[in-house]
Amino acid sequence: MKNDQLIYQGHFVPYTHDELVGKLRAALSDHRFQHCLRVEQTAMDLAEQNGVDVEKAAIGGLVHDYAKQRPDDDFIQAIKDYQLDPELLNYGNAIWHGVVGWLFVKNELQITDIDILNAVRYHTVGHQYMTPLEQIVYMADYIEPGRDFPGVDEARKMTKNNLQDGVAYQTKQTLGYLVAHNKPVFPQTIMTYNSWVPSSGID
Ligand SMILES: [Fe+2]
Ligand SMILES: [Fe+2]
Repeated sequence: MKNDQLIYQGHFVPYTHDELVGKLRAALSDHRFQHCLRVEQTAMDLAEQNGVDVEKAAIGGLVHDYAKQRPDDDFIQAIKDYQLDPELLNYGNAIWHGVVGWLFVKNELQITDIDILNAVRYHTVGHQYMTPLEQIVYMADYIEPGRDFPGVDEARKMTKNNLQDGVAYQTKQTLGYLVAHNKPVFPQTIMTYNSWVPSSGID
């Protein structure tokens, strides 16, 4: 199914598809908004292939980067207001827009479905336990057709073949990249790696 033909029927969000798309458009640059539409479509395709609720996958894909362009102060305030782990303050937008940003999705887009919220929450850092829906949003963000990086074709092929292999591949690549570039590694990323990569069958 094409994302522009989507009619929400599951009551996961109190808006029509057009209204929710409008909220994303208003919150993001055109560049990032277009990325969100491609992630929406990719998530729908992966959901169809894997027997997952297509509407939930579409919503998770569309809203996953909703908080990406919020000022740092919004995240810092939320970390304090919600008494989240103060360790989070040592990181930045790349981590916050998912692991904190899901709260903005919940409060401002009125999405209460925990599967969708967790898919947003873990879309960058992953989690040791990820439902198929969470795996789909994690992978759709990584392989949407606008992505262009060494290994993306391999990632697309593996994900199409086996969603969990795709998760292992992305997790391994991400940790390898962070280490190779002397970047800090958010502890959750290491937990995700330990859970998904050593037990996988990937090279
Ligand atoms: Fe993101
Ligand atoms: Fe994204």
